[in-house]
Amino acid sequence: MIKNEWIEKGYIDEPIDKNIEIVKEIRQMCKDKNAIILAHYYTQGAIQDIADFIGDSLALARKAENTDAKIILMCGVNFMAETCKILNPSKLVLAPDLNSGCSLADSCKAEDLKKYKEEHPGYKVVSYVNTTAAVKALTDIVVTSGNAKKIVDTFPKDEKLIFGPDYNLGSYINQITGRNMLLWNGGCHVHERFSVDEIIKLKKLHPNAKVLAHPECKGPVLAVADVIGSTAVLLNYSIKSSENEFIVATEAGILHEMQRNCSDKKFYPVPPEISEGGLGCSCNDCEYMKMNTLEKIYNTLKYEWPSVEVPDNIRKEALKPIERMLELS
Ligand code: 13P
Ligand code: SF4
Repeated sequence: MIKNEWIEKGYIDEPIDKNIEIVKEIRQMCKDKNAIILAHYYTQGAIQDIADFIGDSLALARKAENTDAKIILMCGVNFMAETCKILNPSKLVLAPDLNSGCSLADSCKAEDLKKYKEEHPGYKVVSYVNTTAAVKALTDIVVTSGNAKKIVDTFPKDEKLIFGPDYNLGSYINQITGRNMLLWNGGCHVHERFSVDEIIKLKKLHPNAKVLAHPECKGPVLAVADVIGSTAVLLNYSIKSSENEFIVATEAGILHEMQRNCSDKKFYPVPPEISEGGLGCSCNDCEYMKMNTLEKIYNTLKYEWPSVEVPDNIRKEALKPIERMLELS
């Protein structure tokens, strides 16, 4: 029985018996229930270790499109779970905690985008995957940081485009494609915090290190980066590169998979700018991603709740721009 207090909280906080082997039990439930665990690189290392598949937003969407499992448990944030549900309406899509939002997705409300479109007739809308289903439903094509350039390049040079919601990614794509897309003024609170001064300090300490940055970072951070790309691009670069040291300007969870693949290489996370209280820290976590825990995963599989639902009218409209992206990427 799902308790009302859990519904109010958006997750199950039932204590777990200390004597059970939680990882073993989770894997057993996946087998018994034909469930698959998908996890983003920003989740805790322990979750990445038990997942059936880990990836960036694009790879997770592709996996969700192709899986035969009956239940998909998405360990990431809400827009990722919604994308799963949009692609798999007949499957049970679960998320360990319904509070796992995304500051970037929150920076673009569907009603505001609708108004902006009305003010700009003749423009097509290119939306980053970090958006709600309702925003995707108002979109012509979805992109991720892994395919944004490739997809924007498919439009004729004179096509009028609105890009949202990430301003930094949009500016970067404008720069590398020579476009002048109208940019939504949204951003990710984690990526906007990375400090250029801290990168310079790290570079002085480790002069041979390559700077890897996610395109959601601010322009000055991208200007000092050697490699700019999605989490999967940054990870693959660190694996294939002959370099041995990397300064990493994206959420710190990615370091787990980098270090797992390259035990002999060194990775230095970029700290955020010193906070107003003067307390800097060497971590830069996405608190939404970190809401996923092994305990919540266990309970979610046990009770098959919380499930992620997308109203049918929104789902049908949101599916079109996601399918267009998957066809082109
Ligand atoms: P990726 O698509 O690169 O995995 O990024 C997702 C994200 O939320 C970045 O903050
Ligand atoms: Fe959203 Fe930023 Fe967290 Fe990525 S890191 S999920 S963009 S809040």
